[in-house]
Amino acid sequence: MDRRTAGTTSSWRSWVKVPMRLCTRTTSEVVALKEIHLDAEEGTPSTAIREISLMKELKHVNIVRLHDVIHTESKLVLIFEFCEQDLKKYMDTHGDRGALDLNTVKNFTHQLLNGIAFCHDNRVLHRDLKPQNLLINRRGELKIGDFGLARAFGVPVNTFSNEVVTLWYRAPDVLLGSRTYSTSIDIWSVGCIFAEMITGYPLFRGRDNADQLVQIMKIVGTPSDATIAQIKLNSPEIQIKAPLAKHPKQPFHAIVPRAPRDALNLLEHLLQFEPSRRYDAHQAMTHPYFTAGPIAPPTLPASVQSSAASLALPPRVAARASQASAAVQAAQAQAQAQAQAQAQAQAAQQNAQAQMMAQQQQQAQQHQQAQQAQQAQQAQQQQQAQQYNMMMAEQAARQGYYDPATTAQLQAQAQAHAHAQQIQMAQAQAQAQAQAQAQAQAQAQAQGRGVDQNVSLQFDL
Ligand SMILES: Nc1ncnc2c1ncn2[C@@H]1O[C@H](COP(=O)(O)OP(=O)(O)O)[C@@H](O)[C@H]1O
Ligand SMILES: [Mg+2]
Repeated sequence: MDRRTAGTTSSWRSWVKVPMRLCTRTTSEVVALKEIHLDAEEGTPSTAIREISLMKELKHVNIVRLHDVIHTESKLVLIFEFCEQDLKKYMDTHGDRGALDLNTVKNFTHQLLNGIAFCHDNRVLHRDLKPQNLLINRRGELKIGDFGLARAFGVPVNTFSNEVVTLWYRAPDVLLGSRTYSTSIDIWSVGCIFAEMITGYPLFRGRDNADQLVQIMKIVGTPSDATIAQIKLNSPEIQIKAPLAKHPKQPFHAIVPRAPRDALNLLEHLLQFEPSRRYDAHQAMTHPYFTAGPIAPPTLPASVQSSAASLALPPRVAARASQASAAVQAAQAQAQAQAQAQAQAQAAQQNAQAQMMAQQQQQAQQHQQAQQAQQAQQAQQQQQAQQYNMMMAEQAARQGYYDPATTAQLQAQAQAHAHAQQIQMAQAQAQAQAQAQAQAQAQAQAQGRGVDQNVSLQFDL
């Protein structure tokens, strides 16, 4: 592998039938395990971390689904949905010397663009698109896999390594040293794969970086000085030491003779030397090649449809599969136990809170009752004092202490005051009675359950 981190290896231990209990799934389903061996000193390789975090977010029919991850000290096991074949093997086994029928080419290219449009819409570059990283399942669905080199792109995008994308599918701007590339890098690879499905062999087969660039220019032509200037303007890090050898552009129908006219036109738009001139995935999907008529389903050889059913598991793989399955189930049981314990703790806490609140409420009620009693006592004392004053005033009047006019006025005042007092007392009494009644009712309601329990206990006895 041209891109592995030193000290780490990733290997596919075949596809295995594992009884998976993931979330709501309880049925057996076929999964693929990808083992990534960890270097004790280096820890989890950055490619694996990238792959995991990206894939868990990317849920789309044209992107291989990552079900779960098992992390042990020495390795990571990624559990993916199983796909019967990758596109390379599919072309080798079912193509006519690698070339696929044109219906299937159109269908697969459309699915590939659909998946890559979803990646780009979610700010993910794949950066390693090639037939080996595209998977085909028994329903003829194409799924983009191997996100080991994928990278979320944001701002700024000028820190990419140019050691990405397997050479034959690598865009010319990357070969020239560009580090500021974007979604257009994947579109170039789609163009290469599209042509390869039609012809059955890779379009540009360079031996090394420089040779790859020459192979590209021999077909799409050496770019004009103006184009080079434009590319350098967009990617100032590009340094071209010697002038590029001049090659004329070849017509695509000479290179991909089986391709229909609109397929050739689309290919031109995908394989533009200058990145900014390449179509994006959505533009490509609305090209007449796809929209002029219905897209027929791919032709699926019987061997693809039945290969999973006929899988015989080598003993070591079967052992590994059941190990993985047991690990998943153990993790789930642990999670379930944790969730239960958490729920119990929460319930206990809620209970304690409810008790505390009831106690506080009771205290508040007692306080209110004491206040009311105090107020009633004060009112009574006030009334007694006023009655006494009135009595004294009457006595004084009877003894001729006041002149007649003052006596009359005092008597009138005393009567009015007594009347007002009577009304106020009656109101206060009515209010106190209503409050006492409401409290009694509330208490009876609150104690309702306890009372019932006592009753039933008594009956039980
Ligand atoms: N989900 C899958 N189902 C079945 N086979 C798969 C699956 N994913 C990958 N493979 C097979 O394993 C090969 C290597 O997987 P890949 O993810 O590309 O890892 P690597 O990092 O080694 O390139 C693929 O080319 C394909 O043949
Ligand atoms: Mg791969």
